[in-house]
Amino acid sequence: MLKNDNFLRACRREKTDYTPVWMMRQAGRYLPEYLATRSRAGDFLTLCKTPDLAAEVTLQPIDILNVDAAILFSDILVIPEAMGMELQFLVGEGPHFPDPVKTAADIDKLVIPDPMDELGYVMKAITAINKGLDGRVPLIGFTGAPWTLATYMIEGGGSKNFAVIKKMLYDQPDLLHSLLNKITEAVIAYLKAQIETGVHAVQIFDTWGGILTPDDFETFSLQYIQRIVEEVGGKVPVIVFAKGAGHMMESIAQTGCDVVGVDYMSDIGDIRRRVGDKVALQGNMDPCNLYASPEVIRRKVADILAKYGEGSGHIFNLGHGILPDIPVEHAKAFINAVHELSPAYHKG
Ligand code: CP3
Repeated sequence: MLKNDNFLRACRREKTDYTPVWMMRQAGRYLPEYLATRSRAGDFLTLCKTPDLAAEVTLQPIDILNVDAAILFSDILVIPEAMGMELQFLVGEGPHFPDPVKTAADIDKLVIPDPMDELGYVMKAITAINKGLDGRVPLIGFTGAPWTLATYMIEGGGSKNFAVIKKMLYDQPDLLHSLLNKITEAVIAYLKAQIETGVHAVQIFDTWGGILTPDDFETFSLQYIQRIVEEVGGKVPVIVFAKGAGHMMESIAQTGCDVVGVDYMSDIGDIRRRVGDKVALQGNMDPCNLYASPEVIRRKVADILAKYGEGSGHIFNLGHGILPDIPVEHAKAFINAVHELSPAYHKG
């Protein structure tokens, strides 16, 4: 039994007494406690693969910030690694695949991992987290969207113009589809295993969905997200967060997901008018707003609550992940402001 199920109720657009809030990347480098645990692990990937330590950092923001949901500590790129690609995290440079996917032979070599085996450390972390949570708040599992995973697997890491994957998209669309199909299969098995192990909701991160034209977004990203939602939806709430896709909200809402993530470039009131009768919304304060003073943070929280307006179906969050150099006191001011100012919108 969950002691605080406000997050799950909001996902289903059921009544709550206040607006639940959590932050993308809430277990991260802005917390000194996170940095201490990471240095005990040695490096970021080892932290992901050590269930007790992954559980420890997942719980830190629950204890320190009083957020209404926990999110599994891991990374979206553990899937390509389990599919057979070597993954490195270079300090200060982000993720790197030294042998990116180039050819049909490279795609053939990728395996569909058994998530209970090759990603067993994630399942062990989920069990350890739920033990540590003891029902205080729900636990969110996650995956990268196939398109976003493919960008890293093909570009070999982060990218500015996504030249390599876009060239493949235009010149060899069938090759790209064969990779996306394989990733989708792996993702479905992975999310089913997370749900079976005990996560209460799942989020699909399509960080790079917004770099596609609307047609290409439908063809190369959304169609695969839709398949994932069809396979895992109904069991637990499914959240789809596609950054930079404010113009695609109607299409995303039509996948059958329960919650649509709204990034900070969109007006959440406008999005509610467009799709708020179909889905709950999650978002959307500019992560850079947390550099400002606690008074300004509180004012911006009030603005977003007013834009969404009265009633259920809003999960407060940032419009993308919290940044590593945000003062912890500002993150606390953000969470407290949502808890203090939102009950006025849930009286009816
Ligand atoms: O939200 C959470 O607290 C859960 C943990 C989580 C991480 N990564 C931890 C992490 C989640 C949900 C992710 C998802 C993820 N990883 C995404 C999609 C979401 C997004 O932010 O757009 C992407 C694109 C990745 C790939 C990735 N992992 C990148 C590009 C980087 C480098 C980022 C940077 O700022 O250096 C990572 C590393 C990473 N993943 C860190 C954390 C806490 C920092 C690693 C460290 O401790 O040094």
